[in-house]
Amino acid sequence: MANTSLETIRNFARKNGFVYPGSEIYGGLANTWDFGPKGVLLKENIKKAWKQHFVYERTDMLELDAGILMNQKVWEASGHTAGFSDCLVDDKSSKHRFRADHLVEDQLGIDVEGKSPEEITELIRSNNLINPITKKPGDWTEARYMNLMFETNRDKIGNDPAQRIYLRPETAQGMFVQFKNVVQTERPKMPFGLAQIGKAFRNEITPGNFIFRVVEFEQMEIEYFIAPPKVKDDWNIPFEEFLTSQQEFLTEKLNFNPESFKLKEHSPDKLSHYSKRTVDIEYNFPFGFSELTGLAYRTDFDLNQHQTHSGQKMEYQDPITNEKYIPHVLEPTVGVDRLFLAALCEYYCEEEIQNEETTETRIVMKFPFNIAPVKIAILPLMKKDGLKEIAEEIHRDLRKNGFSADYDESGSIGKRYRRQDEIGTPWCLVVDYQTKEDNTVTLRHRDTMEQVRVQINDVQQWLSESKF
Ligand code: GAP
Repeated sequence: MANTSLETIRNFARKNGFVYPGSEIYGGLANTWDFGPKGVLLKENIKKAWKQHFVYERTDMLELDAGILMNQKVWEASGHTAGFSDCLVDDKSSKHRFRADHLVEDQLGIDVEGKSPEEITELIRSNNLINPITKKPGDWTEARYMNLMFETNRDKIGNDPAQRIYLRPETAQGMFVQFKNVVQTERPKMPFGLAQIGKAFRNEITPGNFIFRVVEFEQMEIEYFIAPPKVKDDWNIPFEEFLTSQQEFLTEKLNFNPESFKLKEHSPDKLSHYSKRTVDIEYNFPFGFSELTGLAYRTDFDLNQHQTHSGQKMEYQDPITNEKYIPHVLEPTVGVDRLFLAALCEYYCEEEIQNEETTETRIVMKFPFNIAPVKIAILPLMKKDGLKEIAEEIHRDLRKNGFSADYDESGSIGKRYRRQDEIGTPWCLVVDYQTKEDNTVTLRHRDTMEQVRVQINDVQQWLSESKF
Protein backbone atom coordinates (compact mmCIF):
# COMPACT_ATOMS: atom_id res chain seq x y z
CA MET A 1 0.00 0.00 0.00
CA ALA A 2 1.20 3.49 -0.78
CA ASN A 3 2.19 5.36 2.35
CA THR A 4 -0.25 8.19 1.79
CA SER A 5 -3.21 9.91 3.42
CA LEU A 6 -6.87 9.49 2.52
CA GLU A 7 -7.00 13.20 1.79
CA THR A 8 -4.26 12.86 -0.83
CA ILE A 9 -6.20 10.01 -2.46
CA ARG A 10 -9.47 11.98 -2.35
CA ASN A 11 -7.83 15.06 -3.91
CA PHE A 12 -6.08 12.94 -6.50
CA ALA A 13 -9.33 11.19 -7.43
CA ARG A 14 -11.16 14.44 -7.89
CA LYS A 15 -8.41 16.28 -9.78
CA ASN A 16 -8.03 13.43 -12.25
CA GLY A 17 -11.71 12.72 -12.95
CA PHE A 18 -12.00 9.50 -10.94
CA VAL A 19 -14.48 10.53 -8.21
CA TYR A 20 -16.40 13.77 -7.63
CA PRO A 21 -18.50 14.70 -4.58
CA GLY A 22 -22.20 13.96 -5.27
CA SER A 23 -24.61 16.89 -6.00
CA GLU A 24 -21.74 19.28 -5.29
CA ILE A 25 -23.27 22.42 -6.81
CA TYR A 26 -26.15 22.11 -4.32
CA GLY A 27 -23.88 21.69 -1.32
CA GLY A 28 -23.55 17.92 -1.72
CA LEU A 29 -25.38 14.99 -0.14
CA ALA A 30 -23.63 13.14 2.69
CA ASN A 31 -21.90 9.90 1.70
CA THR A 32 -22.68 10.16 -1.99
CA TRP A 33 -20.05 10.36 -4.73
CA ASP A 34 -20.13 10.32 -8.52
CA PHE A 35 -17.63 8.50 -10.71
CA GLY A 36 -16.00 10.68 -13.36
CA PRO A 37 -14.74 9.61 -16.79
CA LYS A 38 -11.58 7.89 -15.47
CA GLY A 39 -13.54 6.40 -12.56
CA VAL A 40 -16.05 4.80 -14.92
CA LEU A 41 -13.24 3.10 -16.84
CA LEU A 42 -11.48 1.94 -13.68
CA LYS A 43 -14.69 0.56 -12.21
CA GLU A 44 -15.48 -1.31 -15.44
CA ASN A 45 -12.00 -2.85 -15.47
CA ILE A 46 -12.29 -3.95 -11.84
CA LYS A 47 -15.63 -5.61 -12.61
CA LYS A 48 -14.18 -7.27 -15.74
CA ALA A 49 -11.24 -8.64 -13.74
CA TRP A 50 -13.62 -10.02 -11.10
CA LYS A 51 -15.81 -11.72 -13.71
CA GLN A 52 -12.76 -13.10 -15.48
CA HIS A 53 -11.46 -14.63 -12.25
CA PHE A 54 -14.66 -15.83 -10.59
CA VAL A 55 -16.92 -16.57 -13.57
CA TYR A 56 -15.23 -16.98 -16.98
CA GLU A 57 -12.21 -18.99 -15.82
CA ARG A 58 -14.47 -21.50 -14.05
CA THR A 59 -16.93 -24.02 -15.41
CA ASP A 60 -19.35 -23.99 -12.49
CA MET A 61 -20.65 -20.41 -12.54
CA LEU A 62 -23.79 -18.82 -13.94
CA GLU A 63 -24.74 -15.15 -13.89
CA LEU A 64 -27.85 -13.30 -12.78
CA ASP A 65 -29.04 -9.71 -12.98
CA ALA A 66 -31.89 -9.35 -10.50
CA GLY A 67 -33.89 -6.18 -9.84
CA ILE A 68 -33.12 -3.63 -7.14
CA LEU A 69 -36.79 -3.61 -6.10
CA MET A 70 -38.27 -6.84 -4.80
CA ASN A 71 -41.39 -7.95 -2.99
CA GLN A 72 -41.15 -6.78 0.66
CA LYS A 73 -41.62 -10.38 1.78
CA VAL A 74 -38.10 -11.11 0.52
CA TRP A 75 -36.71 -8.90 3.28
CA GLU A 76 -38.97 -10.39 5.93
CA ALA A 77 -37.68 -13.85 4.99
CA SER A 78 -34.03 -12.79 4.91
CA GLY A 79 -34.26 -11.14 8.34
CA HIS A 80 -33.50 -7.62 7.08
CA THR A 81 -36.87 -6.10 8.04
CA ALA A 82 -36.50 -7.17 11.66
CA GLY A 83 -32.79 -7.07 12.20
CA PHE A 84 -30.82 -4.98 9.71
CA SER A 85 -30.32 -1.94 11.89
CA ASP A 86 -27.70 0.20 13.61
CA CYS A 87 -28.01 1.68 17.09
CA LEU A 88 -27.89 5.47 16.63
CA VAL A 89 -27.71 8.45 18.93
CA ASP A 90 -27.96 12.22 18.25
CA ASP A 91 -26.21 15.13 19.88
CA LYS A 92 -29.14 17.56 20.36
CA SER A 93 -26.92 20.64 20.53
CA SER A 94 -25.01 20.07 17.29
CA LYS A 95 -27.61 17.84 15.48
CA HIS A 96 -24.83 15.36 14.64
CA ARG A 97 -25.84 11.70 14.48
CA PHE A 98 -23.49 8.83 15.38
CA ARG A 99 -23.39 5.05 15.62
CA ALA A 100 -23.90 4.55 19.37
CA ASP A 101 -21.86 1.32 19.40
CA HIS A 102 -18.90 3.10 17.76
CA LEU A 103 -19.02 5.97 20.28
CA VAL A 104 -18.95 3.58 23.24
CA GLU A 105 -16.32 1.29 21.73
CA ASP A 106 -14.02 4.15 20.69
CA GLN A 107 -14.24 6.13 23.93
CA LEU A 108 -14.78 3.46 26.59
CA GLY A 109 -13.33 0.38 24.89
CA ILE A 110 -16.55 -1.51 25.70
CA ASP A 111 -18.13 -3.91 23.20
CA VAL A 112 -21.90 -3.21 23.29
CA GLU A 113 -22.88 -6.39 21.43
CA GLY A 114 -26.07 -7.74 23.07
CA LYS A 115 -26.74 -4.60 25.16
CA SER A 116 -30.15 -2.94 25.01
CA PRO A 117 -30.59 0.66 23.75
CA GLU A 118 -31.33 1.68 27.35
CA GLU A 119 -28.04 0.22 28.58
CA ILE A 120 -26.14 1.90 25.74
CA THR A 121 -27.84 5.25 26.50
CA GLU A 122 -26.83 4.90 30.14
CA LEU A 123 -23.18 4.24 29.17
CA ILE A 124 -23.14 7.27 26.87
CA ARG A 125 -24.76 9.69 29.30
CA SER A 126 -23.15 8.58 32.55
CA ASN A 127 -19.68 8.76 30.98
CA ASN A 128 -20.37 12.14 29.38
CA LEU A 129 -19.13 10.93 25.99
CA ILE A 130 -17.54 13.45 23.65
CA ASN A 131 -19.02 14.39 20.28
CA PRO A 132 -16.09 13.41 18.00
CA ILE A 133 -16.81 16.33 15.63
CA THR A 134 -17.22 19.23 18.10
CA LYS A 135 -14.81 17.57 20.59
CA LYS A 136 -17.20 18.63 23.41
CA PRO A 137 -19.46 16.46 25.61
CA GLY A 138 -22.69 15.83 23.68
CA ASP A 139 -26.27 16.49 24.77
CA TRP A 140 -27.30 12.93 23.92
CA THR A 141 -30.75 11.64 22.91
CA GLU A 142 -31.83 8.10 23.78
CA ALA A 143 -29.97 5.54 21.67
CA ARG A 144 -32.33 3.62 19.38
CA TYR A 145 -32.17 1.08 16.57
CA MET A 146 -32.89 2.33 13.04
CA ASN A 147 -33.27 0.06 10.04
CA LEU A 148 -30.65 0.63 7.34
CA MET A 149 -32.92 -0.11 4.40
CA PHE A 150 -34.14 2.79 2.26
CA GLU A 151 -37.84 2.47 1.75
CA THR A 152 -40.35 3.90 -0.65
CA ASN A 153 -44.03 3.31 -1.23
CA ARG A 154 -45.93 2.47 -4.41
CA ASP A 155 -49.13 3.80 -2.91
CA LYS A 156 -48.30 7.51 -2.99
CA ILE A 157 -51.57 8.68 -1.41
CA GLY A 158 -52.39 6.27 1.39
CA ASN A 159 -48.83 5.27 2.36
CA ASP A 160 -50.17 1.72 2.72
CA PRO A 161 -47.62 -0.49 4.58
CA ALA A 162 -48.55 -3.39 2.31
CA GLN A 163 -47.26 -1.32 -0.64
CA ARG A 164 -43.92 -0.58 1.02
CA ILE A 165 -40.84 -1.48 -1.01
CA TYR A 166 -37.16 -1.30 -0.21
CA LEU A 167 -34.05 -0.57 -2.22
CA ARG A 168 -32.13 -3.82 -1.82
CA PRO A 169 -29.42 -3.67 0.85
CA GLU A 170 -27.51 -6.59 -0.75
CA THR A 171 -27.55 -8.32 -4.13
CA ALA A 172 -27.50 -11.77 -2.50
CA GLN A 173 -31.25 -12.22 -2.00
CA GLY A 174 -32.01 -11.94 -5.73
CA MET A 175 -29.93 -15.06 -6.25
CA PHE A 176 -31.77 -17.03 -3.57
CA VAL A 177 -35.17 -15.92 -4.80
CA GLN A 178 -34.36 -17.00 -8.39
CA PHE A 179 -32.72 -20.28 -7.37
CA LYS A 180 -35.78 -22.33 -8.37
CA ASN A 181 -36.01 -20.74 -11.84
CA VAL A 182 -32.28 -21.12 -12.50
CA VAL A 183 -32.39 -24.81 -11.58
CA GLN A 184 -35.40 -25.35 -13.86
CA THR A 185 -34.05 -23.50 -16.91
CA GLU A 186 -30.31 -24.27 -16.66
CA ARG A 187 -30.31 -27.74 -15.03
CA PRO A 188 -26.93 -27.05 -13.37
CA LYS A 189 -25.01 -29.84 -11.66
CA MET A 190 -24.12 -29.41 -8.01
CA PRO A 191 -22.05 -27.66 -6.86
CA PHE A 192 -22.61 -24.48 -8.85
CA GLY A 193 -22.53 -20.75 -8.26
CA LEU A 194 -24.64 -17.75 -9.18
CA ALA A 195 -22.68 -14.54 -9.66
CA GLN A 196 -24.09 -11.06 -9.72
CA ILE A 197 -22.82 -7.49 -9.88
CA GLY A 198 -25.25 -4.76 -8.94
CA LYS A 199 -26.23 -1.78 -6.84
CA ALA A 200 -27.10 -2.01 -3.17
CA PHE A 201 -28.28 0.73 -0.79
CA ARG A 202 -27.82 1.24 2.94
CA ASN A 203 -28.74 4.30 4.96
CA GLU A 204 -25.41 4.28 6.81
CA ILE A 205 -24.04 6.81 9.27
CA THR A 206 -20.34 6.97 8.50
CA PRO A 207 -17.22 8.70 9.75
CA GLY A 208 -16.64 9.98 6.22
CA ASN A 209 -13.87 7.74 4.94
CA PHE A 210 -14.42 8.85 1.32
CA ILE A 211 -16.00 5.96 -0.69
CA PHE A 212 -15.20 3.29 1.92
CA ARG A 213 -18.74 3.30 3.37
CA VAL A 214 -21.40 4.91 1.24
CA VAL A 215 -25.17 4.82 0.99
CA GLU A 216 -25.27 3.65 -2.63
CA PHE A 217 -22.67 1.16 -3.81
CA GLU A 218 -22.09 -1.86 -6.00
CA GLN A 219 -21.50 -5.39 -4.83
CA MET A 220 -19.94 -8.36 -6.61
CA GLU A 221 -21.39 -11.44 -4.95
CA ILE A 222 -21.47 -15.18 -5.49
CA GLU A 223 -23.90 -17.61 -3.93
CA TYR A 224 -22.24 -21.00 -4.32
CA PHE A 225 -24.65 -23.89 -3.80
CA ILE A 226 -23.35 -27.16 -2.37
CA ALA A 227 -25.00 -30.38 -1.25
CA PRO A 228 -25.65 -30.49 2.51
CA PRO A 229 -22.46 -31.66 4.20
CA LYS A 230 -22.50 -35.44 4.75
CA VAL A 231 -19.45 -35.40 6.97
CA LYS A 232 -19.16 -32.67 9.61
CA ASP A 233 -17.33 -29.58 8.26
CA ASP A 234 -17.29 -30.88 4.63
CA TRP A 235 -18.25 -27.37 3.60
CA ASN A 236 -14.93 -26.10 4.87
CA ILE A 237 -13.09 -27.53 1.85
CA PRO A 238 -14.80 -25.26 -0.75
CA PHE A 239 -14.76 -22.49 1.87
CA GLU A 240 -10.95 -22.63 2.06
CA GLU A 241 -10.76 -22.83 -1.76
CA PHE A 242 -12.78 -19.62 -2.08
CA LEU A 243 -10.64 -17.93 0.52
CA THR A 244 -7.53 -18.78 -1.50
CA SER A 245 -9.25 -17.70 -4.70
CA GLN A 246 -10.20 -14.33 -3.18
CA GLN A 247 -6.57 -13.73 -2.24
CA GLU A 248 -5.36 -14.85 -5.68
CA PHE A 249 -7.78 -12.41 -7.25
CA LEU A 250 -6.11 -9.59 -5.32
CA THR A 251 -2.52 -10.67 -5.94
CA GLU A 252 -2.72 -12.17 -9.44
CA LYS A 253 -5.47 -10.23 -11.19
CA LEU A 254 -5.02 -6.92 -9.39
CA ASN A 255 -1.33 -7.18 -8.57
CA PHE A 256 -1.84 -6.23 -4.90
CA ASN A 257 1.08 -6.70 -2.55
CA PRO A 258 0.20 -9.63 -0.22
CA GLU A 259 1.32 -7.45 2.68
CA SER A 260 -1.41 -4.91 1.92
CA PHE A 261 -4.12 -7.16 3.31
CA LYS A 262 -4.78 -9.75 6.02
CA LEU A 263 -7.45 -12.24 6.98
CA LYS A 264 -9.86 -11.68 9.84
CA GLU A 265 -11.81 -14.63 11.19
CA HIS A 266 -15.08 -13.59 12.88
CA SER A 267 -15.39 -14.92 16.40
CA PRO A 268 -18.57 -17.00 16.99
CA ASP A 269 -20.24 -14.18 18.97
CA LYS A 270 -19.73 -11.72 16.06
CA LEU A 271 -21.22 -13.94 13.33
CA SER A 272 -24.30 -12.69 11.44
CA HIS A 273 -27.52 -14.57 12.20
CA TYR A 274 -27.18 -16.58 8.96
CA SER A 275 -23.50 -17.50 9.15
CA LYS A 276 -21.60 -20.43 10.65
CA ARG A 277 -18.20 -19.12 9.58
CA THR A 278 -17.13 -15.74 8.18
CA VAL A 279 -13.67 -14.58 7.17
CA ASP A 280 -13.03 -11.05 5.93
CA ILE A 281 -10.04 -9.84 3.98
CA GLU A 282 -9.03 -6.53 5.50
CA TYR A 283 -7.08 -4.03 3.42
CA ASN A 284 -4.56 -1.65 4.93
CA PHE A 285 -6.41 1.59 4.10
CA PRO A 286 -4.87 4.93 5.21
CA PHE A 287 -7.25 4.79 8.23
CA GLY A 288 -6.12 1.28 9.20
CA PHE A 289 -6.96 -2.33 8.31
CA SER A 290 -10.68 -2.50 7.43
CA GLU A 291 -13.02 -4.94 5.68
CA LEU A 292 -12.55 -5.23 1.94
CA THR A 293 -14.16 -8.60 1.16
CA GLY A 294 -16.17 -11.21 3.03
CA LEU A 295 -16.64 -14.95 2.79
CA ALA A 296 -19.49 -16.58 4.69
CA TYR A 297 -20.88 -20.10 5.07
CA ARG A 298 -24.61 -19.28 5.12
CA THR A 299 -25.71 -22.92 5.59
CA ASP A 300 -29.22 -23.52 4.14
CA PHE A 301 -30.56 -20.54 6.07
CA ASP A 302 -31.67 -18.39 3.13
CA LEU A 303 -33.24 -21.06 0.91
CA ASN A 304 -35.00 -22.50 3.95
CA GLN A 305 -36.36 -19.09 4.91
CA HIS A 306 -37.62 -18.42 1.39
CA GLN A 307 -39.22 -21.88 1.26
CA THR A 308 -41.04 -21.18 4.52
CA HIS A 309 -42.11 -17.63 3.65
CA SER A 310 -43.08 -18.23 0.01
CA GLY A 311 -44.54 -21.71 0.39
CA GLN A 312 -42.50 -22.75 -2.68
CA LYS A 313 -40.11 -25.70 -2.63
CA MET A 314 -36.49 -24.61 -2.80
CA GLU A 315 -35.13 -28.10 -3.23
CA TYR A 316 -32.62 -29.47 -5.67
CA GLN A 317 -33.07 -32.99 -7.02
CA ASP A 318 -29.87 -34.88 -7.75
CA PRO A 319 -30.21 -36.14 -11.38
CA ILE A 320 -28.41 -39.43 -10.63
CA THR A 321 -29.55 -40.44 -7.15
CA ASN A 322 -32.89 -38.55 -7.26
CA GLU A 323 -32.11 -37.40 -3.73
CA LYS A 324 -33.86 -34.12 -2.88
CA TYR A 325 -32.35 -31.52 -0.58
CA ILE A 326 -32.07 -27.81 0.16
CA PRO A 327 -28.53 -26.81 -0.80
CA HIS A 328 -26.14 -25.05 1.52
CA VAL A 329 -24.39 -21.86 0.45
CA LEU A 330 -20.94 -20.28 0.48
CA GLU A 331 -20.87 -16.57 -0.23
CA PRO A 332 -17.76 -14.68 -1.36
CA THR A 333 -18.59 -10.98 -1.60
CA VAL A 334 -16.86 -7.68 -2.23
CA GLY A 335 -17.90 -4.07 -2.81
CA VAL A 336 -16.78 -2.51 -6.09
CA ASP A 337 -16.42 0.96 -4.56
CA ARG A 338 -14.33 -0.36 -1.68
CA LEU A 339 -12.09 -2.29 -4.06
CA PHE A 340 -11.80 0.85 -6.18
CA LEU A 341 -10.57 2.77 -3.11
CA ALA A 342 -8.15 -0.02 -2.20
CA ALA A 343 -6.84 0.04 -5.80
CA LEU A 344 -6.19 3.79 -5.67
CA CYS A 345 -4.33 3.36 -2.35
CA GLU A 346 -2.40 0.35 -3.64
CA TYR A 347 -1.11 1.89 -6.86
CA TYR A 348 -0.63 5.55 -5.89
CA CYS A 349 3.03 6.39 -5.99
CA GLU A 350 5.14 9.53 -5.62
CA GLU A 351 8.63 9.22 -7.10
CA GLU A 352 11.55 11.62 -6.98
CA ILE A 353 13.10 11.92 -10.41
CA GLN A 354 16.33 13.68 -11.24
CA ASN A 355 16.29 16.11 -14.16
CA GLU A 356 19.45 17.81 -15.40
CA GLU A 357 19.59 20.32 -12.54
CA THR A 358 16.50 19.77 -10.43
CA THR A 359 14.62 16.98 -8.75
CA GLU A 360 10.93 16.64 -9.46
CA THR A 361 8.18 14.62 -7.82
CA ARG A 362 6.40 12.40 -10.30
CA ILE A 363 2.97 11.07 -9.34
CA VAL A 364 2.39 7.68 -10.97
CA MET A 365 -0.60 5.41 -10.62
CA LYS A 366 0.99 1.98 -11.05
CA PHE A 367 -2.13 0.23 -12.32
CA PRO A 368 -1.55 -3.20 -13.84
CA PHE A 369 -2.36 -3.09 -17.56
CA ASN A 370 -5.77 -4.83 -17.24
CA ILE A 371 -6.97 -2.27 -14.67
CA ALA A 372 -5.54 0.95 -16.17
CA PRO A 373 -8.43 3.21 -17.30
CA VAL A 374 -6.47 4.36 -20.34
CA LYS A 375 -4.10 1.87 -21.97
CA ILE A 376 -2.27 4.20 -24.32
CA ALA A 377 -2.05 7.94 -25.00
CA ILE A 378 -1.37 9.22 -28.50
CA LEU A 379 0.77 12.35 -28.52
CA PRO A 380 1.79 14.17 -31.70
CA LEU A 381 5.15 15.90 -31.15
CA MET A 382 3.82 18.94 -33.09
CA LYS A 383 0.36 19.90 -34.29
CA LYS A 384 1.77 20.93 -37.67
CA ASP A 385 3.43 19.25 -40.65
CA GLY A 386 0.87 16.43 -40.78
CA LEU A 387 1.87 14.88 -37.41
CA LYS A 388 -1.51 15.68 -35.82
CA GLU A 389 -3.39 13.93 -38.64
CA ILE A 390 -1.27 10.77 -38.35
CA ALA A 391 -1.76 10.75 -34.56
CA GLU A 392 -5.52 11.22 -34.86
CA GLU A 393 -5.76 8.31 -37.27
CA ILE A 394 -3.78 6.02 -34.93
CA HIS A 395 -6.05 7.14 -32.08
CA ARG A 396 -9.24 6.37 -34.03
CA ASP A 397 -7.88 3.04 -35.17
CA LEU A 398 -6.96 1.90 -31.66
CA ARG A 399 -10.35 2.87 -30.25
CA LYS A 400 -12.12 1.09 -33.11
CA ASN A 401 -10.20 -2.04 -32.16
CA GLY A 402 -11.32 -1.87 -28.55
CA PHE A 403 -8.34 -0.18 -26.86
CA SER A 404 -9.07 2.58 -24.38
CA ALA A 405 -6.82 5.21 -25.98
CA ASP A 406 -6.47 8.89 -25.11
CA TYR A 407 -5.31 11.74 -27.37
CA ASP A 408 -3.41 14.77 -26.10
CA GLU A 409 -1.79 17.51 -28.18
CA SER A 410 -1.55 20.34 -25.64
CA GLY A 411 1.61 21.39 -23.79
CA SER A 412 5.17 20.12 -23.89
CA ILE A 413 5.78 16.39 -24.30
CA GLY A 414 7.17 16.29 -20.74
CA LYS A 415 3.94 17.76 -19.32
CA ARG A 416 1.86 15.36 -21.36
CA TYR A 417 3.88 12.38 -20.06
CA ARG A 418 3.30 13.56 -16.48
CA ARG A 419 -0.47 13.87 -17.02
CA GLN A 420 -0.61 10.31 -18.33
CA ASP A 421 1.67 8.98 -15.55
CA GLU A 422 -0.71 10.49 -13.03
CA ILE A 423 -3.73 8.61 -14.38
CA GLY A 424 -1.64 5.46 -14.77
CA THR A 425 -1.53 5.13 -18.57
CA PRO A 426 0.93 2.30 -19.27
CA TRP A 427 2.11 3.53 -22.70
CA CYS A 428 2.59 6.92 -24.40
CA LEU A 429 2.89 6.83 -28.17
CA VAL A 430 4.65 9.77 -29.81
CA VAL A 431 4.28 10.63 -33.47
CA ASP A 432 7.34 12.59 -34.65
CA TYR A 433 9.08 13.53 -37.89
CA GLN A 434 10.63 10.10 -38.32
CA THR A 435 7.10 8.66 -38.38
CA LYS A 436 6.57 10.36 -41.74
CA GLU A 437 9.66 8.69 -43.13
CA ASP A 438 9.39 5.10 -41.89
CA ASN A 439 5.96 4.64 -40.24
CA THR A 440 7.50 4.12 -36.81
CA VAL A 441 6.49 5.75 -33.52
CA THR A 442 8.05 5.80 -30.06
CA LEU A 443 6.40 3.95 -27.21
CA ARG A 444 7.32 5.12 -23.72
CA HIS A 445 6.90 2.76 -20.77
CA ARG A 446 5.19 4.42 -17.77
CA ASP A 447 7.28 2.80 -15.03
CA THR A 448 10.77 2.65 -16.55
CA MET A 449 10.22 5.75 -18.73
CA GLU A 450 12.28 3.94 -21.39
CA GLN A 451 11.35 4.32 -25.05
CA VAL A 452 11.33 1.92 -27.97
CA ARG A 453 10.63 2.53 -31.65
CA VAL A 454 8.03 0.30 -33.24
CA GLN A 455 6.14 0.10 -36.51
CA ILE A 456 2.64 1.63 -36.34
CA ASN A 457 1.27 -1.70 -37.57
CA ASP A 458 2.82 -3.50 -34.59
CA VAL A 459 1.36 -1.22 -31.87
CA GLN A 460 -1.78 -3.29 -31.25
CA GLN A 461 0.22 -6.50 -30.97
CA TRP A 462 2.58 -4.71 -28.58
CA LEU A 463 -0.34 -3.63 -26.39
CA SER A 464 -1.93 -7.06 -26.40
CA GLU A 465 1.29 -8.59 -25.11
CA SER A 466 1.90 -5.78 -22.69
CA LYS A 467 3.11 -6.82 -19.22
CA PHE A 468 2.74 -4.46 -16.27
N1 GAP B 1 -24.47 -10.46 1.10
C1 GAP B 1 -23.60 -10.28 2.20
C2 GAP B 1 -23.29 -8.88 2.46
O1 GAP B 1 -23.92 -7.99 1.92
P1 GAP B 1 -21.68 -7.30 3.76
O2 GAP B 1 -20.42 -7.63 4.52
O3 GAP B 1 -22.69 -6.51 4.44
O4 GAP B 1 -22.25 -8.72 3.30
C3 GAP B 1 -20.45 -7.22 1.47
O5 GAP B 1 -21.28 -6.59 2.40
C4 GAP B 1 -19.40 -6.25 0.93
O6 GAP B 1 -20.04 -5.08 0.42
C5 GAP B 1 -18.44 -5.74 2.00
O7 GAP B 1 -17.36 -6.63 2.19
C6 GAP B 1 -17.99 -4.41 1.41
O8 GAP B 1 -16.94 -4.61 0.48
C7 GAP B 1 -19.23 -3.94 0.65
N2 GAP B 1 -20.01 -2.95 1.43
C8 GAP B 1 -20.89 -3.21 2.42
N3 GAP B 1 -21.45 -2.07 2.87
C9 GAP B 1 -20.91 -1.06 2.16
C10 GAP B 1 -21.09 0.35 2.14
N4 GAP B 1 -21.95 0.97 2.93
N5 GAP B 1 -20.36 1.08 1.26
C11 GAP B 1 -19.49 0.48 0.42
N6 GAP B 1 -19.30 -0.86 0.37
C12 GAP B 1 -20.00 -1.63 1.23
